[in-house]
Amino acid sequence: MNEKLQKLKQEVLDNLAIIKDFYVLKDYEVRIMGRKGELAEILKDLPSLPEEEKKSVGKLANDIKVELTAKFEELKNALSKKKSEGFFDATLPGEKISRGHLHPITIIQNDLEDFFTSLGFMVLDGPELESDYFNFEALNIPKHHPARDMQDTFYIDMKNQAGEYDMVMRTHTSPVQVRAMQKYGAPLKSIMPGKCFRSEATDVRHEHTFYQLEGLMIGEDINLSNMTGILEATAKHLYGKETKVRLRPKFFPFVEPGVNGEVTCFICRGQGCKLCKNTGWLEIFGAGMTHPNVLRSGGIDPEKYQGFAFGFGLDRLVMIKYGIEDIRLFNSGDLRFLNQF
Ligand code: DAH
Repeated sequence: MNEKLQKLKQEVLDNLAIIKDFYVLKDYEVRIMGRKGELAEILKDLPSLPEEEKKSVGKLANDIKVELTAKFEELKNALSKKKSEGFFDATLPGEKISRGHLHPITIIQNDLEDFFTSLGFMVLDGPELESDYFNFEALNIPKHHPARDMQDTFYIDMKNQAGEYDMVMRTHTSPVQVRAMQKYGAPLKSIMPGKCFRSEATDVRHEHTFYQLEGLMIGEDINLSNMTGILEATAKHLYGKETKVRLRPKFFPFVEPGVNGEVTCFICRGQGCKLCKNTGWLEIFGAGMTHPNVLRSGGIDPEKYQGFAFGFGLDRLVMIKYGIEDIRLFNSGDLRFLNQF
């Protein structure tokens, strides 16, 4: 019986060294250590042994049992850890893959595109690398005119046949007005959102790359009231029904008259607060009646047609809406900022 016990012990130890699966191990444990297992089978005749032999075999059997039980436990622990590591439950809900989202400027651009298309405006695009002609001259800003000082321009390091630098990174979306007029003629209703560039010494309010949304409406009887109506509707769409618009004269070479457009502050409703610097008004656009020279550049007869144009700074709209204090965050690619939208 001693021999049988030793043999069984060795066999079990050999097998434990090669078992790699938790469930195989558990089955094997029952087969050896269970109530009707191989160990019990060997010890079945123990009671019939002579007293002396019973004692020594009994002790050996017990030692082996303790040793093997410990071995089984040890291996079960190791394999069950592995089991939970590699465990896959197909019935559990999956892990959510985090999805990207729109940039705050794109959100406001999409919103305004929807609004203006609902008023019958087209949405047009223009090139970001623009000719000096469309960016300035066609907009009634001749070469060497002081009006060019209003915009710090990135000129492209490339000269034309006359030896002049004639390509620029567009400083505003206004050149698309002329492109639109040349392509579609009058009457015309369109908006032109897009990226613009200026050689700014950047700070919290100035950035070298920013976004504008230009608008243009041309027809036979278009006047300043039409312009005010459209801009008031836009302001109400952006900041609520109570919003009022105030126009103050401002010079822009491509319009006559030209205005600076302000809306009642949507935080204090005109009472004065930090956002509006206690004025009650927020400046959000430039606008005016299209200058006859600009209509001519677009191939439209100023004797027959009039029009108005406006330009919103999209960065500024988003900054006001969400209380963002530094314009440079928009292009920073900083996810701590972007993930808030
Ligand atoms: N292009 C002007 C700028 O970037 C903004 C502007 C002013 C656009 C008046 C217009 C306008 O269409 O009528 O400063």
